[in-house]
Formats: sequence, C-alpha cells, structure tokens
Amino acid sequence: GASRINQSGVEALREFPNFPIGGILFKDIAPMLAGRGALGEVVSTVASQVSGTEIDAILAVDARGFILGASLADRLGCGFIMVRKPGKLPGDVLSFEYSCEYCSGTLEVTAGLIGDGLRCLIADDLLATGGTARATGNFVKSQGGEIAGYAFILEIEVLKGRRQLDDAPVISAMTC
Ligand code: PRP
Ligand code: MG
Repeated sequence: GASRINQSGVEALREFPNFPIGGILFKDIAPMLAGRGALGEVVSTVASQVSGTEIDAILAVDARGFILGASLADRLGCGFIMVRKPGKLPGDVLSFEYSCEYCSGTLEVTAGLIGDGLRCLIADDLLATGGTARATGNFVKSQGGEIAGYAFILEIEVLKGRRQLDDAPVISAMTC
C-alpha cells in the first residue's frame, strides 16, 4: 500500500531535518494520525493484508509501535505483547540488543509470554533501517516463536530496511 492516508486535510507527513540527531531526516506521522479515521484506515490496510495469516499475538515495540500494535491486536482479536525499553517491566524479563537508524540499546519482554510455536506479528510505527524489527524477530525465534510477519505504519523505502526482514512478509500501510 503506497497511498498517503489523510482523511481530514492535515498534512500527511511532516519532515524535520537533523532530528533527533544531526544527519537524520525525521518523518513525523503525528499530523497524519491526528486526522479523523486515519488510524482506523491504517489498521484496515494492514488487517486486509494479513487476512488468512495465522497470528497468535502482536509483538509491539515501545513506544510508537504500541499505536499500530494495540489497534491491530484489537481488530484481529489476537494477543498483544509489549516489547519495552529497559527498566519498565516487573518480574522476570528477557532482553536483547538492537540498533536503529539513530540509536541502539536493549529491549525487554516479560519472560514466559512467547511460548514454543507462538505465531507473532511484529508491529512498529516505522520501518527505517530495519534494525529494531530484525532484532525483535531474532528474539522471537530465539524463544521458539514463529514470525507471522512484520507490519508498519510507514516504510522509508530508501533505507531498504525490508532487506533485513527476509524471513516473513513485510507490510507497510504507507511508504515514502
Ligand atoms: C524509532 C521508530 C522505530 C525505529 C525504526 O523508534 O519508532 O521503532 O526507530 O528504526 P529502524 O528501522 O532503523 O530500527 P525510537 O527508538 O525513536 O523510539 P520511540 O518508538 O520510543 O519513539
Ligand atoms: Mg520506536
């Protein structure tokens, strides 16, 4: 899906050069999401492309991944699992390293949620370099889970993150 989703006349995507660090052109989805019905249209676009795919749970990446992840889990009626920035989860947690276009660090998931053969769809707002999604997918596989697919609100095609995700279908509601 390559269309710009914009139902209320607000600017679909806003670009901010040198944010959050020098050399990065930040594509802001906030104006697009502010439009009436926009999130629902994003979810419908993704949901139609995963119809027929067996999905047990959406795995969504803190923080902006929760937007699509939770909405899609509600639409599909499947489970919802949070992948969080460090120090946010109580109890036993499993952690893994990741790096994105302008950051790197650790992500955490509550232990015991990803059982053997659990079919997970990994959701995030943005596919940039693919580093975050790749690391999350590798983590799912390390826990014995299966990757049903990867879903994003927006894919920045020039960064070719899709190439990192060659083990399952990659869906993006919008591209730029
Ligand atoms: C951004 C974005 C994706 C990731 C994409 O997250 O929300 O999670 O980077 O980049 P990649 O494809 O190069 O890995 P960010 O770390 O800015 O945090 P946030 O979601 O908490 O805003
Ligand atoms: Mg993020």
